[in-house]
Amino acid sequence: MDRRQFFLRSLVAGGGTLLGSRGFADRIASSASQVSDATSSARVAGAGFPNGFLWGIATASYQVEGAWNEDGKGESIWDRYTHQAGHIRGGATGDVACDHYHLYRHDIAIIKQLNLKSYRFSIAWPRIQPTGRGAVNQKGIDHYSRVVDLLLEAGIRPFCTLYHWDLPQGLEEIGGWPNRDLAGYFADYAGVLAKHLGDRIQVWAPFNMPWTFTYLGYGTGVFPPGRAGYRDFLRAAHTVNLAQGQAFRAIKAASPNGTVGSAYGMCPAYPKTDSDADRAATARYNAMNNLFFLETAMHGKYPNPFIGEFPYEAMGFRAGDEKIMQVPLDWIGFHYYTRRIVSDASSSARSGGGLATETQDTGSVDALTQFTAAMPNEGPLTEGGLEVWPRGIYDLVMQISREYNHPIIEITESGCGYLDAPYEQAGGHVPDTRRIEFFREELAELARAIADGARVRAFHAWALLDNFEWLDGYSQRYGLTYVDFRDQKRTVKDSGLWYGRVAAANGLNGS
Ligand code: FCB
Repeated sequence: MDRRQFFLRSLVAGGGTLLGSRGFADRIASSASQVSDATSSARVAGAGFPNGFLWGIATASYQVEGAWNEDGKGESIWDRYTHQAGHIRGGATGDVACDHYHLYRHDIAIIKQLNLKSYRFSIAWPRIQPTGRGAVNQKGIDHYSRVVDLLLEAGIRPFCTLYHWDLPQGLEEIGGWPNRDLAGYFADYAGVLAKHLGDRIQVWAPFNMPWTFTYLGYGTGVFPPGRAGYRDFLRAAHTVNLAQGQAFRAIKAASPNGTVGSAYGMCPAYPKTDSDADRAATARYNAMNNLFFLETAMHGKYPNPFIGEFPYEAMGFRAGDEKIMQVPLDWIGFHYYTRRIVSDASSSARSGGGLATETQDTGSVDALTQFTAAMPNEGPLTEGGLEVWPRGIYDLVMQISREYNHPIIEITESGCGYLDAPYEQAGGHVPDTRRIEFFREELAELARAIADGARVRAFHAWALLDNFEWLDGYSQRYGLTYVDFRDQKRTVKDSGLWYGRVAAANGLNGS
């Protein structure tokens, strides 16, 4: 796997949780029985969910909206990046994407038809403030206001992500996320949204997958804005932690009924062997990839993923920042796609303690964290390239429940990439049976976590529509609805119809 492929796969596999002390080798030996036990047909058939459980579905502005320069919208870093040659597979852009900006009525009707009760969407910051600062673009507010009204009319809860990676280019021009001032601008933007939409939106997540966009955007440069420097990553991460805290307060100030949580990318992570070194490496991975933006909010301190001294100075940390970061989230939201196997990489890490990043086939080894995170292929791989490992959601949910004193949890994304298309001999249906199997087994594992005491209140399938899949362009399809990008025709896939029945039955019984 080359470096680019690795990063593509790591996008959906944001982080890892330290799970138990047994090594991967032990786990392999017992995993067959774990899986067959966990997802046996009896368990799947019986999987029920609590009354009022919210079955939902998700999208993100840049991936679906299109209309990239309409109604006063400013340029985002993704607009800039996709318009430059060489970054995105097939030269694809989000200029049109699913044209959800114009077709949202139609798309919300699909959500309703599938009996879903929560729609997680993101707002494009450059539609609200074209350069990221100053005057509000009323047309941008009006658009999202119409979306929210329509959702409420359809009995669907609006779940708003404030930032799913489309930073206004104007803010990159003043230094991007490594510039601490962005925390304040982000809080202003959050306050604007809460003021105009907070009478109807009560569920807010400031950032989608903060580790991913800070690390890939500033640490390795495979994401926009394409900057590669470990110091920039550290500074960007710290600004985002400050921004999360300040946005939390801005939302609560403008909309006292608002609740604020998160949409982190997380992976359950398992040590490769039982050695102390691999277990410690897994703990570092967990701190960096899962908890770097959660522990700060819940407890006002950074978890420590570093081998040597904590690089406070390189991060631009100032006295009092811990108070700014600390905002006990009302609920914790995270995505689950796949797992990681982690090993110590101190022997291959760059020596000398510099802040340069070194990459390897299986992952990124930097001098400060010194671990390798690999994706195993014991389970089948999706066409999106990720291992299918249903048990992972159980482990992850239970871990977060334990570590954070049984918080309310929302699964903010989960899904799989398969390329099934409408099939004439099936009456034009999209028979994506592998996706149905993926969700069936995973949801059985989620039900098991709930039965074991986890307070999970919502699940959002990724995604409502096939869409612009970042560096992969349109070459990956994660939708429960097929989109023909030539004419924007939508066809709900068999997985979508199946998911609608699960939602109606509030469980897997009979599905
Ligand atoms: C997640 C992203 C989402 C989508 C899925 C496949 O990492 O949040 O935008 O790309 O992966």
